[in-house]
Amino acid sequence: MALVTTKEMFKKAYEGGYAIGAFNINDMEIIQGVVNGAKAKNSAVILQCSTGALKYAGPKYLKAMVDAAVEETGIDIALHLDHGPDLAAVKLAIEAGFTSVMFDGSHHDYEENVRLTKEVVEYAHAHGVVVEAELGVLAGVEDDVVAAEHIYTDPEQAVDFVKRTGCDSLAIAIGTSHGAFKFPPSFKPQLRFDILEKIQEKLPGFPIVLHGASAVDPEAVATCNQYGGAIKDAKGIPVDMLRKASSMAVCKINMDTDLRLAMTAAIRKVFGDTPAEFDPRKYLGAGKAAIQNVVEYKIENVLGSVDSLK
Ligand code: G3H
Ligand code: 13P
Ligand code: ZN
Repeated sequence: MALVTTKEMFKKAYEGGYAIGAFNINDMEIIQGVVNGAKAKNSAVILQCSTGALKYAGPKYLKAMVDAAVEETGIDIALHLDHGPDLAAVKLAIEAGFTSVMFDGSHHDYEENVRLTKEVVEYAHAHGVVVEAELGVLAGVEDDVVAAEHIYTDPEQAVDFVKRTGCDSLAIAIGTSHGAFKFPPSFKPQLRFDILEKIQEKLPGFPIVLHGASAVDPEAVATCNQYGGAIKDAKGIPVDMLRKASSMAVCKINMDTDLRLAMTAAIRKVFGDTPAEFDPRKYLGAGKAAIQNVVEYKIENVLGSVDSLK
């Protein structure tokens, strides 16, 4: 058993009307929670590392633990670099054995994003690694203003971008946003399915990626706060909208915040309920189990990838 790329995963997901979950990993408990959830639902999964994760745990530790997860579970797992900032970061990930990389050039102007992405694609493809690129800027709260429409991905530009860069998948901006505080409390989250439809029409069969897709479960937030947390005005993307997207051209859905909230809630609860406890396995184990629950829920209700390995 070995790590796989996302190529075959996305082809099957596109045809099957589901998406593969891409979960951010930072340590052993998160890795085990995620793959145990995927294994229980008989689904492929993408484990992704941000540059922050690589700095925190080290690429060698992360790669070795992910290799162990492949061996232990026998499910299809891709190891992906999340938000690679430049070619140097991409090279490091490929050297470490990642099977997929993201180059995030979305903050550059269009021509520069094309140029840099193309460079990354040429390098990665020469090493048998697939590339996710990004076009458009995710909506978000900046100074309490929701980002305006013009930063949503332009379908015409997406076609030109894919053609010119040769990227294998594309992250688009249709109304999702990173983190736990995606929108002001009164704002009604809305995904621009009209844009997704246009992109799907113009790029048939091409895998689309959604970042910033955590649902921000109010119950997890409430548990955190009940046990001493102070998380105010957290808001995410409704689950039914994400499931609709995963039935369309969206083949990869990124979730990190929901894992963080679930793990933190579970650990806070152990500390609150059993203040005399100081065995890390008790609270980290609760965190790991909470992550597994979230992943199983996502596979059932957001991704639709249950039994996709059969
Ligand atoms: O998109 C960002 C991911 O949630 C990773 O966050 O850079 O804090 O590891 P991080
Ligand atoms: P969330 O913050 O919504 O979990 O998104 C994570 C993400 O997009 C990682 O790339
Ligand atoms: Zn992201």
